[in-house]
Amino acid sequence: MEFKINRADATLASKMLSLYQKVAQIPDGIIRHPHEINLEYIEGFLQKSIKQGLALVAVKEDQVVGEIHAYTPDIYAFQHMLTDLTIVVDPQQQGQGIGRKLFETFLTTVKKEYLYILRIELYVREHNHRNVKFYEGLGFQNEGQQANKIFKSAGTFETPLHMAWFNPNYTGNK
Ligand SMILES: CC(C)(COP(=O)(O)OP(=O)(O)OC[C@H]1O[C@@H](n2cnc3c(N)ncnc32)[C@H](O)[C@@H]1OP(=O)(O)O)[C@@H](O)C(=O)NCCC(=O)NCCS
Repeated sequence: MEFKINRADATLASKMLSLYQKVAQIPDGIIRHPHEINLEYIEGFLQKSIKQGLALVAVKEDQVVGEIHAYTPDIYAFQHMLTDLTIVVDPQQQGQGIGRKLFETFLTTVKKEYLYILRIELYVREHNHRNVKFYEGLGFQNEGQQANKIFKSAGTFETPLHMAWFNPNYTGNK
């Protein structure tokens, strides 16, 4: 069954909540604990991404099976970036090209329509080689380790890599 990529809108929040709840069960995926996945979290990033960023969904048979978003922080000096990029695909739909299509559409949209965006940033767990390779293949550069940034449990931390992608069409014009 084919899937479609659309811009996300606020009416999709509850479908996105179900998606994020499924994905948060997978270890080594998003840097969010399952107990943090609630409607407030979803609506928070969705509103910011719609207002000052970009959020896309993959839709299959009226279900949201994938989502990608990032937004510009409320800081003057960071107006040229989209940060905290997060991408998820329903665990039962992974490995079918949905994540790649979502990400490629996201970057193509930024190249065409977001000429004021120079940088897109994300974190990835260092040991998640599959994700690191995926992002490198899309043009992200590894900006290095951020030692012990991720808290796992008392005394146990993980080190993510910070990665950035640069918009070749950046002009600075909104
Ligand atoms: C990361 C994620 C979004 C990728 O989505 P997906 O739909 O499974 O990805 P795709 O099928 O488009 O594959 C993308 C790439 O991932 C890799 N990949 C996919 N399935 C794989 C598998 N079973 N084993 C190894 N690599 C695999 C490949 O490198 C693939 O590249 P290719 O297109 O050149 O083959 C998805 O796995 C996911 O939601 N993971 C949990 C959440 C997470 O880790 N999010 C990212 C952190 S914010």
